Amino acid sequence: MLSGKTIVLGVTGGIAAYKAASLCSKLTQKGADVHVIMTSSAKQFITELTLQSLSKNAVFSDTFDERDPSVVSHIRLADAADLVLIAPATANMIGKMAHGLADDMLSTTLLATMAPVMVAPAMNVHMYGHPAVQENMRILEQRGVMMIEPGEGLLACGYVGKGRMEEPESIVAVVERYFADKEQVKPGLLQGKKVVVTSGGTIERIDPVRYITNDSSGKMGFAIAKAAREMGAAVYLIHGHTDTAPPAGIDAEAVQSADDMYQAVLKHWQDCDLVIKAAAVADYRPAETSSSKIKKKGDMMTLDLVKTVDILEQLGKNKTNQFLIGFAAETHDVEVYAKDKLVRKNCDLIVANDVTAEGAGFRSDTNIVQVYDAKGLVEQMPVMSKDEVARRLLTIAAERMNGAVN
Ligand code: CTP
Repeated sequence: MLSGKTIVLGVTGGIAAYKAASLCSKLTQKGADVHVIMTSSAKQFITELTLQSLSKNAVFSDTFDERDPSVVSHIRLADAADLVLIAPATANMIGKMAHGLADDMLSTTLLATMAPVMVAPAMNVHMYGHPAVQENMRILEQRGVMMIEPGEGLLACGYVGKGRMEEPESIVAVVERYFADKEQVKPGLLQGKKVVVTSGGTIERIDPVRYITNDSSGKMGFAIAKAAREMGAAVYLIHGHTDTAPPAGIDAEAVQSADDMYQAVLKHWQDCDLVIKAAAVADYRPAETSSSKIKKKGDMMTLDLVKTVDILEQLGKNKTNQFLIGFAAETHDVEVYAKDKLVRKNCDLIVANDVTAEGAGFRSDTNIVQVYDAKGLVEQMPVMSKDEVARRLLTIAAERMNGAVN
């Protein structure tokens, strides 16, 4: 799985450094060319010789220990890496990375590398929860660093809680998945295209403390935004209420109501090439939003609702060159409703799913979708991660936009 991949494994000074031996061995067994950089604190816990024997490569720890005069070691390693993996990553190393410090071989290599970076933190539960550490991790995530969350359990310091480095087997699985995912992406497929993605659920206010929303988690739209960026597009993500923060590094705008979402989409509409409406938009909103909290009266209460703007339908009516993809989340008669929406809203593709099916729907990490165009079924996808669905869907769209498929 990992043959041909060069992985720079950074080992920093925490007790979990002993697990780096097993991690290094497993990565090497999978075929990766592993080059270890240790901090001087890591050497208090594990020897260079151990990691050298397991990786079959020289281990580096001193920036100035240049063994080959024809190269600068930290630049050579930074350039050669397909991935830099820091495991375990101490609070100190995470802090240095977040603030761009470079006072040892590992932090210097990290500043010099253009390769993707993965970090597996390991530390005491209180250190992990400290606002400074949390903020530093947030900064790194915003920059696109991939975090492998620590597990919970008994820590070497005696505390029970979060901070234990993820097990080597699981880290290897994350690394393998990362490379497998990367291979599915065709990088230039949406190069030069402007893509607008809507995601999450809208919020329609009843009064200052109450609103109407839905179960959308935003995961599907976020996956599409990430995949579109990987394929080279300029991506604008407009999202309502979601379970998690939008993916790092994507131009995102948070909105509340269907009307706010419509206005936000219109700002990008004229010069955009592709719009994907994965958001779950409210069909009705309260006829009036009370500016003060509505007080309880009588046993019954009636709330008058009026129709919201159907964003997709409006876009479909005003379409010039834009390629339009809608979603149809259904609980029954999926195909009938999906085809009806495709025609009614003048979409180029509609992505239908039965939200009641196992492995599909709002909060799930996977989905089972069927893609339709005006001629009928284009593709029935099996159960797949939302990231995989996103890549496949964008590939289908790009082929049509580029004229490869009619
Ligand atoms: N949609 C929209 N604006 C709305 C309602 C829906 O843009 N006010 C979009 C959704 O983002 C989705 C598609 O239309 O891409 C289908 O949404 P869905 O809620 O399944 O369809 P509705 O037209 O609302 O039909 P129904 O609720 O009757 O199933």
